[in-house]
Amino acid sequence: MAKVYVDAQAVRAIEKGAMIIFKKGVIRTEGEIRPGDVVEVYSRGKKFLGKGFANPNSNIMVRLITKDRNTEVTKELFRERIRKANDYRKKFLGYKKAYRMVYGEADYLPGLIVDRFNEIASLQISSAGMERFKLTVAEAIMETEPEIETVFEKNTGRSRRREGLPEIERVLLGKEKYRTVIEEGRAKFIVDMRGQKTGFFLDQRENRIALEKYIKPGYRVLDVFTYTGGFAIHAAVAGAEKVVAVDKSPQAVAMARENARLNGVEDRMDFIVGSAFPIMEEMTKRGEKFDVVIIDPPAFVQHEKDLKRGLRAYFNVNQAGMKLVREGGLLVTCSCSQHVDMQAFKDMVIAAAAKAKKFLRLVEPYRVQAPDHPILMASKDTEYLKCLFLHVEDMR
Ligand SMILES: C[S@@+](CC[C@H](N)C(=O)[O-])C[C@H]1O[C@@H](n2cnc3c(N)ncnc32)[C@H](O)[C@@H]1O
Repeated sequence: MAKVYVDAQAVRAIEKGAMIIFKKGVIRTEGEIRPGDVVEVYSRGKKFLGKGFANPNSNIMVRLITKDRNTEVTKELFRERIRKANDYRKKFLGYKKAYRMVYGEADYLPGLIVDRFNEIASLQISSAGMERFKLTVAEAIMETEPEIETVFEKNTGRSRRREGLPEIERVLLGKEKYRTVIEEGRAKFIVDMRGQKTGFFLDQRENRIALEKYIKPGYRVLDVFTYTGGFAIHAAVAGAEKVVAVDKSPQAVAMARENARLNGVEDRMDFIVGSAFPIMEEMTKRGEKFDVVIIDPPAFVQHEKDLKRGLRAYFNVNQAGMKLVREGGLLVTCSCSQHVDMQAFKDMVIAAAAKAKKFLRLVEPYRVQAPDHPILMASKDTEYLKCLFLHVEDMR
């Protein structure tokens, strides 16, 4: 087995629990390494640190699978890890039919994401090593949860290209099925695996449900970046009088309309296909106001180098959102950019409020991603979603 030697900083991170080794932490390698090979990782002083999938062509050089020298990287290991990840969601957290079953390194399954939507599991693989075990993974998912009849692979996106993997979107195992209806609190959603990401943003589940208690009869709500109606449908189900939902994707909005009908709230919802910023500016010019505004944009910061530009985009959209909240109303603002931490997000919101001359109070404790997307304490990379519920007043 080839060997990878890492520097002191990488050793410290691994010993604290990190599972990812970046190229910059590698001192040298021994033996030939092809993308997807299992390698052993050592410190400069030849202390064994773990085994993992390597990819010499990727910025992430090794994704650790185990820190135990005696653990073999076999099909059975993946089966056991999938069973454990599923037990954590069902037995410990209490999820039933729609949940993230596997969240990569946080489940010792680096490069693998699995979302379960009733009888369909939608998986995403972002490492060459995990790609080699794809069928084993699909079989293990079905063995673990016999109600699952379809494993869909949603293997698209930039991270695949970076790993040198082809883009594939198809049923990998089981019945040809793409759609199902999930329940989320009082709302129902059609999930189509061919939509964005794995088909649905499960990470916002608890935040969408939390919104319901702030909705009062007669409320007007604006959900910018609605996707298939996430926050908007919850607001309507909770009794809002009018909900306006905006997204630039016509496919997402078509599905949001279907979701409105499914929940019997279509009479109280308006949908706009278009780009958020000009639409919000137009609304501000017309003097429109909403009791609640939700802002849940795509990750504006994909890479660290884009931080400044991305924060500027968050600033603009938040400033626009704050202006649309009526005096004493609620702003729900989110960021799913992993490179923007909670402090940077808060600083951006404070700056936007100063510019918009708004006085903000934090209504809910700092909210993050749903617990079925576990944050690994030792890994900043697993912590990405931030969601603030803010009471908005004019500065006096
Ligand atoms: C993180 S998702 C929103 C998830 C949604 N809140 C939910 O709960 O399911 C971001 C959405 O923003 C949309 N989007 C991206 N750029 C946009 C833009 N400039 N204007 C409006 N929508 C945009 C995408 O189509 C996507 O549906």
